[in-house]
Amino acid sequence: MREPVINFKHISMQFPGVLANDDISLDIMPGEVFALIGENGAGKSTLMNILYGIQTPTSGEVWIKGRRVEEFDPRNVIEQGVGMVHQHFMLVPSFTVAQNIVMSKEPRKHRIFFDNAAAEAAVRKLEEDYGLTVPESVPVEDISVGMQQRVEILKALYRGAEILILDEPTAVLTPQETEELFGVIRGIVREKHMTVIIITHKLDEVMAISDRVGVMRKGKLVGIHETRDVNQQMLASLMVGRPVLFDELERTGEPGEPALTVEQLRVLDHRGLVAVRDLSLELRAGEILGIAAIEGNGQSELIEAITGLMPVQSGRITILGKDVTGQDPGEIREAGLAHVPEDRLATGLSGAATVAENLLVGKQREARFNRWGFHQNQAAVRAYAEEVYGRYDIRGAGVEALAGDMSGGNMQKVVIAREFSFDSPVLIISQPTRGVDVGAIEFIHSRIMEKRNQGAAILLSSADLDEVFRLSDRIITLYEGRITGCFRASEITKEEIGLYMTGSRQQGGKEA
Ligand SMILES: Nc1ncnc2c1ncn2[C@@H]1O[C@H](COP(=O)(O)OP(=O)(O)O)[C@@H](O)[C@H]1O
Ligand SMILES: [Mg+2]
Repeated sequence: MREPVINFKHISMQFPGVLANDDISLDIMPGEVFALIGENGAGKSTLMNILYGIQTPTSGEVWIKGRRVEEFDPRNVIEQGVGMVHQHFMLVPSFTVAQNIVMSKEPRKHRIFFDNAAAEAAVRKLEEDYGLTVPESVPVEDISVGMQQRVEILKALYRGAEILILDEPTAVLTPQETEELFGVIRGIVREKHMTVIIITHKLDEVMAISDRVGVMRKGKLVGIHETRDVNQQMLASLMVGRPVLFDELERTGEPGEPALTVEQLRVLDHRGLVAVRDLSLELRAGEILGIAAIEGNGQSELIEAITGLMPVQSGRITILGKDVTGQDPGEIREAGLAHVPEDRLATGLSGAATVAENLLVGKQREARFNRWGFHQNQAAVRAYAEEVYGRYDIRGAGVEALAGDMSGGNMQKVVIAREFSFDSPVLIISQPTRGVDVGAIEFIHSRIMEKRNQGAAILLSSADLDEVFRLSDRIITLYEGRITGCFRASEITKEEIGLYMTGSRQQGGKEA
């Protein structure tokens, strides 16, 4: 029998107020791809940070290749052959690719000067060994996120990693880049006999890449399975601890009249560079138009211009036939637009206000919430807040609790509940389920589909392509501020969309 390369023995990690890891025992076998899954906050990163020596567990032991880790320190662990690519990269932007890769052990001329030629040669050797190419002499700040990730992987390999931990590596990748990454993983496992631990919450990826899968829930390891023995539905249910149904969302009715039109819109970003280039689109009542784009291709500026948060350089925006170009967010809201913003804490919610107060924003002046025209009717406010709280399945310490103390998923439900309660004909929704757990995602998706079926015109922007596909009637791809393609969601695949998102394919003269 083969010996495990890693043993976690009864690992617990207590943070103030949170037991992030609760008595976890797990063996990782050499040469396997082990997927670690679980909802946000389940304790995955903590367990991997312990393995990498960044954190010292409150109790329990870690053994690497039959040796107990005495002192939790990344330097020790790296020496034992463990490498980690973090969720947030740790590269020096102004340094070249080669400089970043060799940073731990820099080649020197006469023992003093950084030997750039030797560094690049060492990197080229690695590239050949592992079949991974990178632009050695380009500064890291000038390469794509997918390429930066490759640099992180090569950096770990340069230090001699045999066991590679990847924390949510695909969160920032396009479908093509994800496929490439999986190719790399398969290659290093098969040919270099490496062991890979991959953290993800995308269940299709677990099925595609892993040999075994471990499921974490609220700090506990609740299951370890051979991947071939499970399916996505089982894994989702294990993750949330109750049955989760991925039912097809019911779509009723056909799109109607245009509700929002954007003509030849040009918007500058915060640095004054053109972010949206003469973009035109038409959004109809009763349809969801999804935007598929890699971050930084104009989608945020497009939405901020439509919602009045950013100035319009040129072009025209109309809502229900009314020209709202250049109006402020309040006027645009009056014209019939509601907005679920990308960053729920910065612009969506006031964390220091109660849930009830947050739900009431924009409605304070309605007669039903006032007595004699100037006194707030507390009882009416509370009754309203409680009704919405129940209807949107918000779970927390009640409507009088501070919004800032709730979990991300529940904060998001508050923002959605408030914005949807205006019954606006046009809804702009950004990242509706970022950082939200599987159970709440189901709920939010069905509320969005319900709005569509009731006739709302919905513009959806999400970094999660699965979400864009699941909800949209039509999908547009944006690349460098332009629409590169417009499709019926049922007539295109994720892989094809990826080509339009990266600008490697383009439809002629595209408008949506
Ligand atoms: N350094 C820390 N200090 C305090 N609490 C932490 C720290 N790191 C993580 N936590 C908490 O531990 C829990 C597990 O977090 P984490 O391991 O990051 O989860 P996951 O990676 O599965 O999303 C969360 O409740 C998180 O807030
Ligand atoms: Mg994490």
